[in-house]
Amino acid sequence: MNMGNGGVPALKPENLGDESFRRDHRLRYAYVAGAMANGIASTRLVGEMAGAGMLAFFGAAGLGLERIEAAIDELACTHPGAPYGFNLIHSPNEPDLEAGVVDLYLRRGIRLVEASAYLRLTLPVVRYRVRGIKRDAEGRIVTPNRIMAKVSRVEVATQFFSPPPKEFLDELVRKGEITGEQASLAASIPMAQDLTAEADSGGHTDNRPLVTLLPTLLVLRDRMQGNFGYEQTLRVGAAGGLSTPAGLAAAFAMGAAYVLTGSVNQACIESGSSDAVRKMLAQAEQADIAMAPAADMFEMGVRVQVLKRGTMFPMRAAKLYDLYRANAGMEALPEADKAFIEKQLLRTTLEDAWRSTRDFFVTRDPGQVERAERDPKHRMALVFRSYLGLSSRWANAGEPSRMMDYQVWCGPAMGAFNEWARGTFLEKPENRRVVVVAEALMNGAATQLRQLFEGMTSKP
Ligand SMILES: Cc1cc2nc3c(=O)[nH]c(=O)nc-3n(C[C@H](O)[C@H](O)[C@H](O)COP(=O)(O)O)c2cc1C
Repeated sequence: MNMGNGGVPALKPENLGDESFRRDHRLRYAYVAGAMANGIASTRLVGEMAGAGMLAFFGAAGLGLERIEAAIDELACTHPGAPYGFNLIHSPNEPDLEAGVVDLYLRRGIRLVEASAYLRLTLPVVRYRVRGIKRDAEGRIVTPNRIMAKVSRVEVATQFFSPPPKEFLDELVRKGEITGEQASLAASIPMAQDLTAEADSGGHTDNRPLVTLLPTLLVLRDRMQGNFGYEQTLRVGAAGGLSTPAGLAAAFAMGAAYVLTGSVNQACIESGSSDAVRKMLAQAEQADIAMAPAADMFEMGVRVQVLKRGTMFPMRAAKLYDLYRANAGMEALPEADKAFIEKQLLRTTLEDAWRSTRDFFVTRDPGQVERAERDPKHRMALVFRSYLGLSSRWANAGEPSRMMDYQVWCGPAMGAFNEWARGTFLEKPENRRVVVVAEALMNGAATQLRQLFEGMTSKP
């Protein structure tokens, strides 16, 4: 090995993280760009990362099947055989959509997904994992489909580090999806070999600190590996707040197999967001973020972390959630609140908003419409959710008349990155490219760790 000063081995960015992770996924760097909904993690972003030997996940959440399939076609054509994956997001409100996305991935041979927002495993995610499982000529179990699970809770991590649940395997055998022999092979594989410990991040987050979450999941990894003795050795990566060389160095020093970023990639020119949002993100400081109700799991009280500076979205969305909780339906809304919603937020009447919301769901998920027509509270939830959905679209499109309504998912990583980039060429939004940012962070992390080791070994 190449030795530097003081007998410390040269540490290159290519050496950071788990070697088997890089090998299995055919990567140069143990660096991943996480999925970002509505195609914010765009085909362009995914392609750039794949071309540079890094992994990225296309942001399939929030998109219809045709859009996702178009992205599959595009990447298959522009980056054949390159390492990349797609997002599989748990959709408790739209179970048919989650199942449809899995159908699509299986049909189109998507071999790697980032599974996220799961609270418990579902039949579709298990079906994805076990489809095609077999023994190779040497008798090793081969699983064509791999899951990188992103979690922030031990209970969820435990499920992904366990073999697929027997009741789901039995159901798949009954439906003729897998054979009995495949079900018994599946009893000795983990649902996910790779699991990302997601600390305080942009978007869905439990706001956990990485310095406590990562060590907890590393201990869990060792325990589960010990219990099950998997051939596919379990690995844990780190996400949430990673956007500086020091942050990445800390994650690798704690034992992360890989690092995964999000917020900082949205600020890059390849993201499917708009220049207006990129400009806002470049001005964000550490505290310019807030929690706001999530469009997809609104009724359940789930929240997402968003940008606060330059938009009124977090306050407006919180108001909608409070009104949803307090009222039986739109008809019961106090006059002043109704007027505020119609004038400021929807810019149309509640009746008209319901009509367009209904049109949207008739094709996407007709079950929602049937339920809403019976249940006024559900009707209100769908209309309020439509504002939350549109607010993301306005941001992505850079709609100038709706700046105050922009919903921009963002974590404290953004402010940390801006502070670090200040005075460098990366300060300007137009210079931020996903690969350049990733390489700057990985190079910086390697330098920082090397200086740390040298400092330790050169002391008497
Ligand atoms: C704009 C944006 C959209 C996101 N959308 C998704 C998504 O659709 N699916 C998902 O698994 N994670 C999503 N995430 C989370 C990222 O993939 C990543 O895990 C997270 O941003 C890492 O934390 P950081 O923001 O502190 O870098 C999103 C994050 C951002 C900033």
